[in-house]
Amino acid sequence: MDLSTPPPDLYGRPRADRFMQRVTAFGDRYTPALGSPLLRRSPRRPPARPTPPLRLTVTGHRTIADGIAELRLADPAGGALPGWQPGAHIRLRLPSGRERHYSLCGDPADRGGYRIAVRRLPGGGGGSVEIHDELLPGTELTVRRPRNGFAFCAEPAVLLLAGGIGITALLPMAREARRLGLDWHLIHTGRSAGTLPFADELRALGPDRVEIRTDDRHGVPTGAALLARARRGTAVYCCGPAPMLAAVQGALEASPARTLHFERFGAAPVLGGSPFGVRLGADGPLLAVPADRSALDVALEQRPGLPYSCRQGFCGTCRVHVLAGTPEHRDRRLTEDERAAGALLPCVSRAAEGETLVLDL
Ligand code: FES
Repeated sequence: MDLSTPPPDLYGRPRADRFMQRVTAFGDRYTPALGSPLLRRSPRRPPARPTPPLRLTVTGHRTIADGIAELRLADPAGGALPGWQPGAHIRLRLPSGRERHYSLCGDPADRGGYRIAVRRLPGGGGGSVEIHDELLPGTELTVRRPRNGFAFCAEPAVLLLAGGIGITALLPMAREARRLGLDWHLIHTGRSAGTLPFADELRALGPDRVEIRTDDRHGVPTGAALLARARRGTAVYCCGPAPMLAAVQGALEASPARTLHFERFGAAPVLGGSPFGVRLGADGPLLAVPADRSALDVALEQRPGLPYSCRQGFCGTCRVHVLAGTPEHRDRRLTEDERAAGALLPCVSRAAEGETLVLDL
């Protein structure tokens, strides 16, 4: 499947479902009526106000698996935190100014704190190392309220596929599936047992519904092996690294599963890219961006302090201004006006072969 093609529904499922088909048909039919006075927004309705971020304190920090720290964040005054649903994430603004997203992996019923788990990535952008080494109990930080781009729809039969730290998004879904009495199974994959967090918690949720597969004992699973438990109509939720997601997507058509909801961590592979150039500042160095790398990755080699977070073109953290050149926008964040004004998200957006983008850096 061509991952550069926008998915046809809200959850990234590769096949349109009936609900989305009806929404599309409704939009096609009634869009021309949007200019009608009947459908104009009431002039008295106030514009939506942005919600202020939360100021939270680290109240717990412990190692729960090789290279994985679990943190608990709470209101320093002991107040209840905003609610959330399985699949939600929060965005942390670290003391260094870096911003990072993490799935909430606690219990939505626990309004007294948020739990996250973070894998240490020594070769990454420094955010995970900062969290491991510096976010000790008592540290205060700014946190954006929970948002959910990976909603759990509670279909009657669900198969949850987690790769490594991707379990953080799926653990609350497993808990919810159990609470609702759904027919659910969860497979957690990783290099070795020592690298996989929450094994005991998962087994306690359903010892006969959880399978832990490690590469050192079982080998790297194929997409077909991961989907082997799916029966007719099963909804699959997958969160893990890009190769795992690609394997599941590739095997989906041949399986009886009905839908695939997914969340990937890290950058998606660049598909359909051409080599181009970026210049860092009007008089700065000219860098070659290969067809299979992002402009952000290339620029980070020269400027390691450049801000970024999702690397998937939706958070806006890496936003830069284009001084010259014609971009090929691939993000899901910028408006047409912002693009026309020169904004660019270099984690995903590119340029045509041979083009040079001059960035205001
Ligand atoms: S890092 Fe999130 S949009 Fe680029």
